Amino acid sequence: MVKFNGLKKIKTAVFISGKGSNLKNLIKFSKQKNFPISIDLIISNNAKAKGLIYANNFKIKKKVFNFSNKIISEKKILSLLFKNKIELICLAGFMKILSKSFIQEFNGRILNIHPSLLPKYKGLNTHARALENREKYSGCTVHLVNSKLDSGKIILQNKVKIYKNDSVKTLSKRILKQEHKIYPEAIIKLFS
Ligand code: GAR
Repeated sequence: MVKFNGLKKIKTAVFISGKGSNLKNLIKFSKQKNFPISIDLIISNNAKAKGLIYANNFKIKKKVFNFSNKIISEKKILSLLFKNKIELICLAGFMKILSKSFIQEFNGRILNIHPSLLPKYKGLNTHARALENREKYSGCTVHLVNSKLDSGKIILQNKVKIYKNDSVKTLSKRILKQEHKIYPEAIIKLFS
């Protein structure tokens, strides 16, 4: 994996589908002199994603692909990534599953943040399932993306206690706070 040499930051694309709080947080960190990555491109499958506003606010190039034809969308995304010399992809609340061939093109250079303590609760509705199973803890995980859903090498995790009166809303809010800590920490761990 490429490392940050203190001069040239690693050119990164962030993929989002929704609110983009992780995106905003990564942009904020990327402005620090010694943070290893720059955010050069924002990609979304959803034209209505609230997080796209950060592209305008921070003057970052953005592009929406509707994924109605996944093969075609992925092809176009890859060519855009190559054109922009993107070296790393950070998935941040991106709710589409990328194909094996796409992942192979960026083998070992796609990171994801997932709102559970993987390998527990892969997939969707993690908080509801953790609450339903009366777990004592949940949390979040930054991992490398491989061709199996939410199964790549774990880089960092943070545990969050679940309280008796927690709802999906209260728990997800507490976990999101930890996501904002570990995503930049994982990037520093990998690339500094
Ligand atoms: C985050 O909680 C992230 O972990 C989750 O979506 C949320 C996006 O929030 N990702 C997944 O569930 C991926 N399977 P954000 O748009 O505010 O960063």
